[in-house]
Amino acid sequence: MSTSLLEVSGLGVTYQTPTGPLAALDDVRFSIGAGESIGIVGESGSGKSTLALALLGLLPTNATTTGAVRLDGVNLLSLNRKELDRRRGKDLALVYQDALVSLNPVRTVGSQIAEVVRRHIPGTDRRAADETAIEALRRVGIPDPGRRARQYAHEFSGGMRQRAAIAMALAAGPRVLVADEVTTALDVTVKAQILDLLDDLRSTEGMSVISISHDLEAVRRITDHLAVMYAGRVVELGPTADVLSASTHPYTAALMDCAPTITRPVISFISGAPPKTAAATPACAFAARCIVSAGREACTLERPVLRPTKAHVTAACHFPLDGAAEPRHHDPIPVH
Ligand SMILES: Nc1ncnc2c1ncn2[C@@H]1O[C@H](COP(=O)(O)OP(=O)(O)OP(=O)(O)O)[C@@H](O)[C@H]1O
Ligand SMILES: [Mg+2]
Repeated sequence: MSTSLLEVSGLGVTYQTPTGPLAALDDVRFSIGAGESIGIVGESGSGKSTLALALLGLLPTNATTTGAVRLDGVNLLSLNRKELDRRRGKDLALVYQDALVSLNPVRTVGSQIAEVVRRHIPGTDRRAADETAIEALRRVGIPDPGRRARQYAHEFSGGMRQRAAIAMALAAGPRVLVADEVTTALDVTVKAQILDLLDDLRSTEGMSVISISHDLEAVRRITDHLAVMYAGRVVELGPTADVLSASTHPYTAALMDCAPTITRPVISFISGAPPKTAAATPACAFAARCIVSAGREACTLERPVLRPTKAHVTAACHFPLDGAAEPRHHDPIPVH
């Protein structure tokens, strides 16, 4: 990518659990420039939400972090709580999958957004903050925002609630928006509207967007770059179109084969389960499920690192697929 605004390098997160340490992220690295967007995809448990929380400094207390998250060269992981609080909302903001996590049920939606404005834009009086909140609701396409601002979250439909959560995240004008599965619970039409909204904000306001999703179609639509995660690591990284049109990591190819299509609208799953932790094995974490690795010793002996597999794309695989633009002819990935 071009000059980076946010640079994640060697990011590792380990949770202490009753059964011992669990490495949820290991050596995660990617960067994003102003006005760019990156999609983070991967199966459940691959560490996507852990990554979102780590970027925002919102990990629970049983988590320890290594590596760096640099915004304009400043390592956010080295900031103290107060400094982080000041930056959160203004520099980076997070929208959760479930809008109800962000919205307080006993306060009006408008007053919550106004509070974010007053916290981050010093000297804003109450009236100006209320107006800014109404404007934020208008900006995300909520009709009659003046009236809506005086309502509570339970008076909003699912799609409207998600828009309100996005309005709140946007209220202080963050430079980077992290959206964690924001469209998962929404129906197709509302989902399309929310995706268009995020894309508009990126292109018109130069905001950088990190979109975490299970949904390859959604990320294809609104991201220019893509990081594919497996068992806490990035296994393929590059321009979204290049990664999805002809994936070079067998895991990405398997994910693509499982994605619903018009002719096969059901989601299928890659057979087998991912390892519980990033550090479980010195080998390739995908080897046991990979059709390419069969009979190839390197896959079970040595952990592959990200390296170039085709123009602009890197993948962590000893035997990457050819990644040619033409459709590949390989056996279908087994699904159950
Ligand atoms: N607070 C926690 N304490 C201990 N382990 C955790 C905690 N939060 C997450 N984990 C573990 O870390 C790993 C990564 O979880 P994470 O929620 O980041 O995955 P995810 O990719 O967001 O999954 P999903 O797609 O289901 O949202 C999982 O093994 C999960 O069980
Ligand atoms: Mg998650």
